[in-house]
Amino acid sequence: MEQRSKATIPYLMDKKRTGKKITMLTAYDYSMAFIMDQAGIDTILVGDSLGMVVLGYNSTVPVTMEEMIHHCKAVRRGTEYAFLIGDMPFMSYQTSVEEAVRNAGRFLKEAGCDAVKLEGGQEMAETVAAMVRIGIPVVGHIGLTPQTATSLGGFKVQGKDLTSAQKQLDSARALDQAGTCMLVLECVPDKLAKKITESVRMPTIGIGAGVDCDGQVLVSNDLLGLFKKFTPKFVKKYADLFPSIDEAFRTYIEEVAAGTFPAVEHTFVMKEHDLEGLK
Ligand code: KIV
Repeated sequence: MEQRSKATIPYLMDKKRTGKKITMLTAYDYSMAFIMDQAGIDTILVGDSLGMVVLGYNSTVPVTMEEMIHHCKAVRRGTEYAFLIGDMPFMSYQTSVEEAVRNAGRFLKEAGCDAVKLEGGQEMAETVAAMVRIGIPVVGHIGLTPQTATSLGGFKVQGKDLTSAQKQLDSARALDQAGTCMLVLECVPDKLAKKITESVRMPTIGIGAGVDCDGQVLVSNDLLGLFKKFTPKFVKKYADLFPSIDEAFRTYIEEVAAGTFPAVEHTFVMKEHDLEGLK
């Protein structure tokens, strides 16, 4: 059997070059990261979707640097092979290039991430270039960018007409030039995603962007059927864990109430006479 080694940028670039698909999933804690890492995932993203699927916020906007670093550290401890990406939260990279670089550095220094991800197109190229220049690998994210969904008019597919398609393609090219090592394409029509994928050196990772991207990403809570609030069209549920977990919790509550748990096999049984002489 071939020895598995840690995924690196050259490994991911090689996958694009040879037409092998790159796999990415989100993780937010040690246990999930461990399972997907051992299952063979190429890259793990600690997405700021953390805010919605783990922390219970209504959007990704309130997520802080401290929350991201905390969860990235947990995921790092469960990850041996996958390339680990930390998602920069809203307002951690928009105010100045200097602040963006300092915050990006924290993901590498404090949390042990291999790269950071940030949302935005052409307007982020200067920030990306500054990070790349000092050795911080950056993943871009264009199309639907949830941190600024309000100014995009909501959670909508991006690049549907010629003008907005050109804007997405120009952004992809600008980020590629600036040195991003991968590019997430979220909610982009399939033909545009294909054109972008063919036009850039870096691998593209699609989420709601069709099958022609160099790889795919899903929010793992969606894939596992754990997030009930809404399910976007692009999600495929590979498991439906919500009902199984619900059932397990309900049975536990019933058994504790009825005194049928713990049973003898869950108990450290002691003989009556072992306690003789206990005062
Ligand atoms: O935050 C996140 O999970 C993401 C993915 C949807 C790409 O950005």
